[in-house]
Amino acid sequence: MNILVIGSGGREHSLCWKLAQSPKASKIFCAPGNPGTAQVAENVNIASEDILGLRDFAKHNKIDLTVVGPEAPLVEGIVDEFESNGLPIFGPDKKAALIEGSKIFSKNLMKKYNIPTADFMTFTDEEEAHKFIKKIGAPLVVKADGLAAGKGVIVCLTEDEAKRAVNRILREKEFGDAGNEIIIEECLTGEEVSILCFTDGKTIIPMASAQDHKRVNDNDTGPNTGGMGAYSPAPIATDDLLQQVHRNILMPTITGMEAEGHPYKGILYVGLMLTKDGPKVLEYNARFGDPETQCILPRLKSDLLDVMEKVVSRKLDTVRLDWDLRPAVCVVLAAGGYPGNYKKGIEITGLENARELDDVIVFHAGTAEKEGKIVTAGGRVLGVVGLGDTIRHAIDRSYLAVKLIDFKDMHYRKDIGRRALKHGK
Ligand code: AMP
Ligand code: GLY
Repeated sequence: MNILVIGSGGREHSLCWKLAQSPKASKIFCAPGNPGTAQVAENVNIASEDILGLRDFAKHNKIDLTVVGPEAPLVEGIVDEFESNGLPIFGPDKKAALIEGSKIFSKNLMKKYNIPTADFMTFTDEEEAHKFIKKIGAPLVVKADGLAAGKGVIVCLTEDEAKRAVNRILREKEFGDAGNEIIIEECLTGEEVSILCFTDGKTIIPMASAQDHKRVNDNDTGPNTGGMGAYSPAPIATDDLLQQVHRNILMPTITGMEAEGHPYKGILYVGLMLTKDGPKVLEYNARFGDPETQCILPRLKSDLLDVMEKVVSRKLDTVRLDWDLRPAVCVVLAAGGYPGNYKKGIEITGLENARELDDVIVFHAGTAEKEGKIVTAGGRVLGVVGLGDTIRHAIDRSYLAVKLIDFKDMHYRKDIGRRALKHGK
């Protein structure tokens, strides 16, 4: 089969890497890809938002399955465009991708179908929002309705911070039209866990659990990022908890989407807060998580291509996933300044040495090739994955490889996976 993977991050490198292991995959393309995807696929210079360009490429190159990494093309309707041209594609269509594309849509879905989530109100008017903040008091969370590249959620510890967040989104239009409407919601406390599922709209098969590390600095301090690392499985996600999530969250989400006329297929990612009143949904994503995918896919023994085909043909009920029981840890190496401004084009050393280690995989994210050298080209530059018999071994493996890699002003968290140790595994 000819496969096209869309995107250029660490997630897409891990998708290409895993798909390349399928005996059914004859040729894999990645658009636009990065030097890591180029190790296992052929990069194609088409941007991930260029839906018509991607459609034409898929047609001319007889692509049998297209896999979409990032959310923006899904929300823009890439699946609808491909399907109306008879091109098989893995992911939700435009209506279904609203589950990520509009936080208000997803909050209303949860309310209607009794899916546990933080209490909330929506606003378009600043004055009204300010009055509400005064009434309920801090802490609280202010969210832009639409896509904001992972930056549209502001956790506010004081009323002043909350008012400022409202102004940034509604008046200053920091996130453009994505902030025409906002949500103000209750601040939940607990540990977070990500559950990524395959679904064909009827059957839901969760993958191994994972935990992301969103804050930039150790001990969960500093601003939020796209994710500074992850580990899988999350020991806090016990079988009991997962059954509860299946019954009270995943099933009602899928049946609710169908009932609302937005039938869902592809990856359904639920970000959960494990509160003392049980798991509550923080957000849905319509795609694989980044960096969760980098530590989940190396643990998946089943043929990913086969599973994806079953999702597309709506035969997921015939699938069972097999997992490597060994935990995996992914440490993200970021450019100096990230998540703020950072420089690009800095040479990276040590990649070859790190690649030679057993039970280590180095996934590229923001990298580029320049005059035969690999240089930085983004905020999150690399994801270094280690596997081990215990989470402790996986952590050690990953940091052993991290020590071999260097670029000027590189920074990373030193505590990835430490929370899992607390749970005694
Ligand atoms: P989201 O983009 O919706 O996942 O939000 C990003 C991060 O903001 C989440 O992973 C949480 O750490 C935090 N967050 C979102 N909503 C809430 C909430 N209601 N209470 C506490 N933290 C939240
Ligand atoms: N790691 C969080 C996300 O992919 O949205």
